[in-house]
This record gives sequence, C-alpha cells and structure tokens, in this order.
Amino acid sequence: MKIYSQKSEETFYKELQKGKIRVVKTRHGWTAHHKVYTPKDGKVIRSILDEHGTNNDAAKEMEKLFGSKKAFDYPKPEKLLMTLIDLVTDKGDWVLDSFAGSGTTGAVAHKMGRRWIMIELGEHCHTHIIPRMKKVIDGTDQGGISKSVGWKSGGGFRYYRLAPSLLEKDRFGNWVISKEYNAEMLSEAMCKLHGFTYDPDETVFWKHGKSTETDFIFTTTQLVTRELVDQIQSQMNEDETLLICCKAYNINPQDYPQITFAKIPQSVLKRCEFGRDDYSLNVSNMPQKEVVEQMELFGEEENQ
Ligand SMILES: C[S@@+](CC[C@H](N)C(=O)[O-])C[C@H]1O[C@@H](n2cnc3c(N)ncnc32)[C@H](O)[C@@H]1O
Repeated sequence: MKIYSQKSEETFYKELQKGKIRVVKTRHGWTAHHKVYTPKDGKVIRSILDEHGTNNDAAKEMEKLFGSKKAFDYPKPEKLLMTLIDLVTDKGDWVLDSFAGSGTTGAVAHKMGRRWIMIELGEHCHTHIIPRMKKVIDGTDQGGISKSVGWKSGGGFRYYRLAPSLLEKDRFGNWVISKEYNAEMLSEAMCKLHGFTYDPDETVFWKHGKSTETDFIFTTTQLVTRELVDQIQSQMNEDETLLICCKAYNINPQDYPQITFAKIPQSVLKRCEFGRDDYSLNVSNMPQKEVVEQMELFGEEENQ
C-alpha cells in the first residue's frame, strides 16, 4: 500500500500508533487524515483572510454600486483588496490588474492613493469599470473602504481601446501588415514603436512625426525607389535625419547617410510579440470609417 504524506516515515508510524493519524481509502487511493484539535477558547481557522471581508460583503458592494448583488460573478470585497494592496505597495505606487472584472482593484487602489492600470477584455469595461471609477472619482461611491480610508473624491483616468494587431500572417505564413490598418493608423503605430511623436506636417508629405526638431519619420506601404528618396533628400536640410518605414525598398541605404530604412514587418516583429489576438498596439483616435483603397494596397504580398 502506498501512502503519500509530508511527514517522515518514522513520524508517520509513531502518530499512527498514537491514533493521531488514521488511514482512509478515498477515490484517489489511501490518504492520511490528521487529527486537528480545536483550541480551548477559539475556533479552527478556515482562512487566514477571515478579517478582510467576505463574499457577502462583496455582493453588498455590488448591489450598492450596480443595483444588484449578482451584478458580477465572484466579486472580491474591497477590504480584501485593501489588505493585499497595503501589504505590497506604498502611496503613489502602481497597481496592475490585467483581468479587471468589476474593477475592484482599481477602485481600491484609487481610494488608497495608488496609481493603477486595469485591463479588461469584456464589456465589463463599459458596464462596470468606467461607471464605477467615475463614482469613485466624483465621491458618490462611499461604500467599500471609502469610510475607513476617508475617501472623498478626486483624480481621474484615461481610457484606451487597443487597436487590432498591426501584423498578420498571409496564407504563405509571412508576416504582412494587417488589412485593418489604414495609412494614418499605420503611420501612428510606427511612430509609437520607434519613439516618435505622431505629428504630420501639413506641407511636407514625408514628415509624419518627429523625435527631435530635426529627426523625422515617414511611413509608406509603397515600394521605396531611388526616385522617391532623391526627391525627399532634396527637401532635407543638412542637419535633418529621417527614418523611412516601408514594406520594401530597392535602393542602397548607404547612398543616403541622413536616412535610415526599416522594413515594416521586421521592424515591428523585433519590438513586439505578435500572433495573439489579444495583444496589440494602442493607437488612439482610430478613424471610424474604412478606407477601401488603402486596404487593397495593404493586401499585396511582401516583395522584399
Ligand atoms: C475573475 S474576473 C477578475 C476579477 C477582478 N480582478 C476582481 O477583483 O473582481 C476575470 C476577468 O478577466 C477578463 N479577461 C479574461 N481574459 C482576459 C484577457 N486576455 N485580457 C483582459 N481581460 C481578460 C474577463 O473578462 C473577466 O472579467
């Protein structure tokens, strides 16, 4: 008979003789049951987090915030989050909840003077988290830990919606630019990836963004030819530098010392982990309407 126990064999047999252990047959084989004595003036502790709010408290908090105890499955009480956040952070620290749910972590972090980031895939973002954080900020949320931390009101937050993945695989398994990106979105994404501020110049077509007053970025899905680069170079001042992000080029980069060339799929792949639908670049101000011509342009295969 094989018995699994954390105790040594010697201790196990001693305790078995003294009646402190009994061996029971379960569905999973033989198991050792250990006697636990109830303290004279106390109770057996079922959880070390007994004093930090219960599921019932959490349900009541949900009801107060959203009008129903069942507004969210398995919510955590604010008090529990307060204990955990208090254990590992100080005022002003960052708290991340990448599975934000009903937003308890962010609400508690906010009331405790921490900065926070919440990520949520589901609609809870709009139905729970944003309304909840607004109530925290304007002070109408006086439930949960509000009273115990003396929460009044204040602060704010920014909300970003992640754009689709910039790259996708074509039917041959090559990385290509996603058809969901139009030219503006692509240009803005490349600025973010390469550390430039997206700031398209109204008169100079190749100035899409800048990192300094003299360092620019230009993104195009066209094949970059000598003709195009000569034209750009003729417009550049001597102290200016430029990064051209493109799908392909057929020039010799060494002929243009002021200009650096980066092929988009490769330059993106070096910076990001792709291939998962839930991971992407953040591009603000996404245009609402589709630009059919540009989408067709992105449909070409890689030719470099
Ligand atoms: C159990 S809930 C989180 C509970 C929450 N932290 C709290 O304290 O109440 C898990 C949440 O993660 C979200 N989720 C699941 N996969 C995700 C992903 N890949 N990215 C972002 N959120 C995700 C679900 O929509 C769900 O709302």
